[in-house]
Amino acid sequence: MNCKKCHTKAVIGLPRHNAAFCKVCFNEFVHDQVARAIKAERMFGPQDRILVAVSGGKDSLALWDVLLKLGYKADALYVDLGISGYSATSREKAVRFADTVGAAHKATLLTHTVQEAEGAGIRELADLIHRPTCSACGTIKRYQFNRAAVEHHYDVMATGHNLDDEAARLLGNVLHWQEEYLDKQSPSLPASVEGFAKKVKPLYRLSEREIAAYAVLNRIDYIVEECPMAKGSKMLLYKEVLNRLETESPGAKQSFYWGFLDKQAKAQPASASMTEKDQASLHPCSTCGQPTTAEICSYCKMMARASAAKSS
Ligand code: AMP
Ligand code: FES
Ligand code: ZN
Repeated sequence: MNCKKCHTKAVIGLPRHNAAFCKVCFNEFVHDQVARAIKAERMFGPQDRILVAVSGGKDSLALWDVLLKLGYKADALYVDLGISGYSATSREKAVRFADTVGAAHKATLLTHTVQEAEGAGIRELADLIHRPTCSACGTIKRYQFNRAAVEHHYDVMATGHNLDDEAARLLGNVLHWQEEYLDKQSPSLPASVEGFAKKVKPLYRLSEREIAAYAVLNRIDYIVEECPMAKGSKMLLYKEVLNRLETESPGAKQSFYWGFLDKQAKAQPASASMTEKDQASLHPCSTCGQPTTAEICSYCKMMARASAAKSS
């Protein structure tokens, strides 16, 4: 198998593109897919300051790596959730990457430690409020990502969600006809109101397998294990189903998700009015000041319930 571009020995085959690449040409392909995503979705420009949420996993570290190599001003944020046997290792991977590749590009890593800020790790907090760990974790991460981006004046917040993540999420939303979530499933969400950072997903054109290959070929040291809380999750099931489809018909994931994005773009007036509706109902949380549609935001409600449960 030879590289489609330079005809030397290929290191990876990409059935969905009917192509194979050597390391150099594959790196170019990955950089080009990210550059296309940034342009197509008007994510950010060369002068913007980007905050990348890094989990220590392959996707977010690869994203940070690509953005720095493309010349963007990108710092990163790691949220330590206090999951024993997992958080310490993932933190170590994020810090090591920051100390090497990050430092070489004068980029810095911010950290937020849930245990320090809230007096308990994510498992204990979730137990206190009787919520599944992953759902409490999602609320905390979304809140902390936004808070850090706004407080430190970043223009945009980037996450490492890839094509597999977005296709699996789309499948879940379609299976349950969650139209409200479908409207918001975009790789680029604008900073709708003061206090809400713009959020982007520059890896949406790349599959999990392609990003894993990029990380390995570029010697990015990442945490291989999934979060132990994710075992048996619906998302993993949807990913498995989509992988089976992909094996049978290469390109299935891409046509499912990109097809959805095309339809969404054509229906722009409808989704734009949804955003305006959302904007009109947002105001500052009476506890923390972050935008919310309720009196108190879901993060502050969650923390209030946890501290009430702790002291009872
Ligand atoms: P996940 O929800 O675990 O699939 O992660 C999706 C994206 O969220 C990752 O690619 C990261 O950009 C970001 N992320 C997840 N966990 C963390 C974390 N603990 N700290 C910072 N960013 C994270
Ligand atoms: Fe949030 Fe696993 S990363 S519970
Ligand atoms: Zn709040």
